[in-house]
Amino acid sequence: MHGDIDRIVISQAQIAARIRELAQQITADHTPPAIPGDGQVTIIPILTGAMIFCADLMRCLPMRMKIGILAVSSYPGRSIKSQGAKFLASRIEEVRGRHIVLLDDIIDSGGTVRLVREMLQELEPASLKTCVLLKKNIAGAEQTPVDYVGFEIPDEFVVGYGLDYDDHYRNLPDIVTLKPHIIARTQSA
Ligand code: IMP
Ligand code: MG
Repeated sequence: MHGDIDRIVISQAQIAARIRELAQQITADHTPPAIPGDGQVTIIPILTGAMIFCADLMRCLPMRMKIGILAVSSYPGRSIKSQGAKFLASRIEEVRGRHIVLLDDIIDSGGTVRLVREMLQELEPASLKTCVLLKKNIAGAEQTPVDYVGFEIPDEFVVGYGLDYDDHYRNLPDIVTLKPHIIARTQSA
């Protein structure tokens, strides 16, 4: 697996440091006086990509919270371009009146986050903020506003730290690019 890596785009140490900063911002926006009371926050990772990001981020958040999960597929199988976001499953106890923090691994075309935000807005949360670890620097991404961004990256396909190619490489601790022949070989297979 490690032989398939082209280069490290963001190291695990950089990710960990940035997550602590994001957690501070999110905490300031989700504890009194920014919101009343305690325990009204629900964090919702979009699975599978945001799983590892969520696990690390939520352990840096000190407030009482619930977790809900949503599974969406936009890059099925060997796709490296969005095939359109589709809901697979959800398990969220309640949204109405709660302060929702939606997490995704990456914004590319923005379609996934847009679809999920629209669905959640209809359930009338008290507030809805979106946090992504990565945002690709492409025109479409700007059309989907997000509240917290970990890193902006160039428009290239990355894997690791939860992000996959054909469901592999999620367990790499750094965010990396793959050698071109890995993708070229399987894209034409
Ligand atoms: P969007 O809907 O085009 O914004 O794409 C967002 C979703 O596609 C994310 O939730 C990821 O799962 C996946 N995705 C987008 N870009 C990449 C990438 O470079 N590597 C791996 N997955 C990606
Ligand atoms: Mg995803």
